[in-house]
Amino acid sequence: MQARVLNILVTGGAGFIGSALVRRLVGEGRHRVLTLDKLTYAGTLTSLAPVAQAATHRFVQGDIADAALLAELFAQFDPDVVVHLAAESHVDRSIDGPGAFIQTNVVGTFTLLQAALAHWRGLPEPRRAGFRFHHVSTDEVYGSLGPEGLFTETTPYDPRSPYSASKAASDHLVSAWHHTYGLPTLITNCSNNYGPYHFPEKLIPLVTLKALQGAPLPVYGQGENVRDWLYVEDHARALQTVFERGTPGETYNVGGNAERRNIEVVRQICALLDRLRPRADGRSYAAQITFVADRPGHDRRYAIDASKLRRQLGWEPQESFESGLEKTVRWYLANEAWWRPLLERNYAGERLGLAG
Ligand code: NAD
Ligand code: TYD
Repeated sequence: MQARVLNILVTGGAGFIGSALVRRLVGEGRHRVLTLDKLTYAGTLTSLAPVAQAATHRFVQGDIADAALLAELFAQFDPDVVVHLAAESHVDRSIDGPGAFIQTNVVGTFTLLQAALAHWRGLPEPRRAGFRFHHVSTDEVYGSLGPEGLFTETTPYDPRSPYSASKAASDHLVSAWHHTYGLPTLITNCSNNYGPYHFPEKLIPLVTLKALQGAPLPVYGQGENVRDWLYVEDHARALQTVFERGTPGETYNVGGNAERRNIEVVRQICALLDRLRPRADGRSYAAQITFVADRPGHDRRYAIDASKLRRQLGWEPQESFESGLEKTVRWYLANEAWWRPLLERNYAGERLGLAG
């Protein structure tokens, strides 16, 4: 499969992880890529600016729940691979307004599966055997861990937020389309990503930009919750590894082996900024740390065992959390032109997810 030129349809390719994948694939120049993205508050074409001129890339603005549009795009573009990243992705927003999560993550995934199935059934061999529907999901479907243990591919699903419940539902749909109809699917469940082009509602970019603005740095609860961080470009490489060489019907966990308590992450960002962009008054950015009311239903700890992906397909993260975080903070310092319009137009940094 690797040697052929593939037509790759990427949904959600104007978002954080999707754009990293599109920049990677188009940068390689080997495959033809079609990005389908609705451009919600979280999607922006500025994340695809590095590939805007490439002849091997095309962008279409549209909704994955629009069956007529999907039928047209599948017929025109004739994909060999669908990598499905389009989603509502922020836990706090899912607490305030779960409806959009059901619509896009569940109904949208169902609509996309139906379009992919109709397309796949019409493909001639050997393209039919080589077709892949790769669903990009999260470790949050497994629920919350205590102090010990790791999520594996066989950990029972136990989602606890409207976001993770909607992703779990979409994973089950994908799995059912494989078992019932034979669609060659792949599912990856990944831990928390961070890196350039991350929408500033998520912890790492939010804290970085609030620090620069001299604003309080909101740490939920006591900052003791643990996340397992993966640099986004390592994730994009893992996705390509899986859709090129993974076994249809399989699930692969993806993670960076970088568990950190939230308070440690926030302190590390402050220390980086103290070095790279010291405050005018000479004090540490850590002085801005503020403990705030906890997220309702806040999952305690996520941690991924990614050994299946390493053993079977040879993927390993290349970035350590320290090197990746420094790259990320430097990127935000150098790319105000990317984030400033998002803060002005789409999200001004207000607290989300306290509803109920
Ligand atoms: P994101 O919010 O940055 O991007 C999502 C993209 O999907 C946006 O560009 C948005 O415009 C688009 N979109 C939303 N609804 C759409 C619709 N109905 N039709 C077409 N496009 C639509 O999210 P992300 O962080 O890049 O996450 C991408 C995927 O990876 C999601 O499926 C998410 O569940 C999964 N994931 C994310 C993480 C993480 O840490 N960010 C970790 C594991 C898995
Ligand atoms: P987030 O980036 O929203 O990702 P997720 O909820 O999918 O893990 O949050 C990461 C962690 O940081 C999570 O435990 C919640 C916490 N958090 C804060 O403490 N303050 C904040 O302002 C945000 C957005 C998150």
